[in-house]
Amino acid sequence: MALLIRNGDIVTADSRFRGDIWVEDETVTRIGRGLDAPPGVEVIDASGKMVFPGFIDPHVHIYLPFMSTFAKDTHETGSIAALVGGTTTFIEMCCPSRLDDPLEGYQLWKSKAEGNSACDYTFHMSVTQFGERTEGQLREIAADGISSFKVFLAYKNFFGIDDGELYQTLALARKMGVIVTAHCENAELVARLQQGLLAEGRTGPEWHEPSRPEAVEAEGTHHFATFLEATGAAGYVVHLSCRAALEKALAAKAKGVRLWVESVIPHFLLDKSFAERPGVEGMKHVMSPPLRERGNQVALWDALRAGFVDTVGTDHCPFDVAQKRMGLEAFTQIPNGIPGIEERVNLLYTYGVKRGGLGLHRFVDAASTQAAKLFGLFPRKGAIAVGSDADLVIYDPEYRGVLSASTQHANCDYSGFEGMEIEGRPSAVTVRGQVQVRDGKFVGERGRGRMLKREAIY
Ligand code: URP
Ligand code: ZN
Ligand code: ZN
Repeated sequence: MALLIRNGDIVTADSRFRGDIWVEDETVTRIGRGLDAPPGVEVIDASGKMVFPGFIDPHVHIYLPFMSTFAKDTHETGSIAALVGGTTTFIEMCCPSRLDDPLEGYQLWKSKAEGNSACDYTFHMSVTQFGERTEGQLREIAADGISSFKVFLAYKNFFGIDDGELYQTLALARKMGVIVTAHCENAELVARLQQGLLAEGRTGPEWHEPSRPEAVEAEGTHHFATFLEATGAAGYVVHLSCRAALEKALAAKAKGVRLWVESVIPHFLLDKSFAERPGVEGMKHVMSPPLRERGNQVALWDALRAGFVDTVGTDHCPFDVAQKRMGLEAFTQIPNGIPGIEERVNLLYTYGVKRGGLGLHRFVDAASTQAAKLFGLFPRKGAIAVGSDADLVIYDPEYRGVLSASTQHANCDYSGFEGMEIEGRPSAVTVRGQVQVRDGKFVGERGRGRMLKREAIY
């Protein structure tokens, strides 16, 4: 069935104009002014609203066995939370551990998502070991449409790889034309610092940040960049949290290393004092890299405005309070992660565009278009153009609200952003032409989401 979105302020990464969008067969087929709606066609009046391309979250965890437990969302709950917040595509980290078979892991992650996600999705394929069969398996996975690998320099003995494996992964990725995303913290230093703190009786969540200080992330970022330079591979630093790491990334970029940077919404808005709250309140805010000294936020916002931070993701990773309590005796046992898939766009719009001098086009670029380009989804996603998927966010900039766990859709009993104001939210969200959300409520088709296959790499 056709859909007409009328009289919206259409905003993309590089253009802004008032107009109408005609949608048919899941795609945008006409863009113009004064388009007629024949009887029976669904019409959305977007007067007074902005119309954005569907937002893309380049870094989420939905199915995740991690730290002796599992992240709480299912693909149904996580995708509904995403859509209510304006995210129409997410890229999930497919994370088999070092002991798992990668191909079996990939099939497992796919099976969890298939038929259960209400929005479109794809995966970054984690490389957590590199053995004799790895190259063949990774080629098979790439042939299935996956455009990016993921490596962890952190999480020793679980997801983490050694330097030999890192080199082999990057050399292969270079040959295959696949971009490699990386969690950049030096695993050995984290392990040693953790042991030292615990031995001194420093067990509370406030010691999580000192166990993975900025220098450890800066070293990891520099390390990754050095390996990229040596292999000629293209890389993407995930969840970069601090000025020291940013400086390493920018120095590498300035030398011509093909490196892109993602920062995630908790690091822009929350600081380490949240994790220093007593007991479980602090545990709710334990993630890695950790929440930092507030001064780092200035560096991240500046870099985002300037385009040195390329994308904004969430690292959505919900563990509930009972799971967080696993770390009551030792901060090293607190499952790492904070949910955010639902809040990202509204927080970035509120604290970036409305209150922080972030340009509207940069906002769209960082929250949608850049990820589409980097991960082989553009211009099907990340654009409003004839032929693009009709993933559209009709956004109400006049909405006022307050974030709370009591109203969120993610399967978690707390919000890392409890009590924060938002100025703006989607009033309607479409996935390939189907209205999935109206005014904060999921009204659509569960299981509508499809796995996306790589189109082209920019
Ligand atoms: O704390 C985090 N970030 N949890 C999820 C795993 C990861 O490192 O991305
Ligand atoms: Zn990570
Ligand atoms: Zn992550």
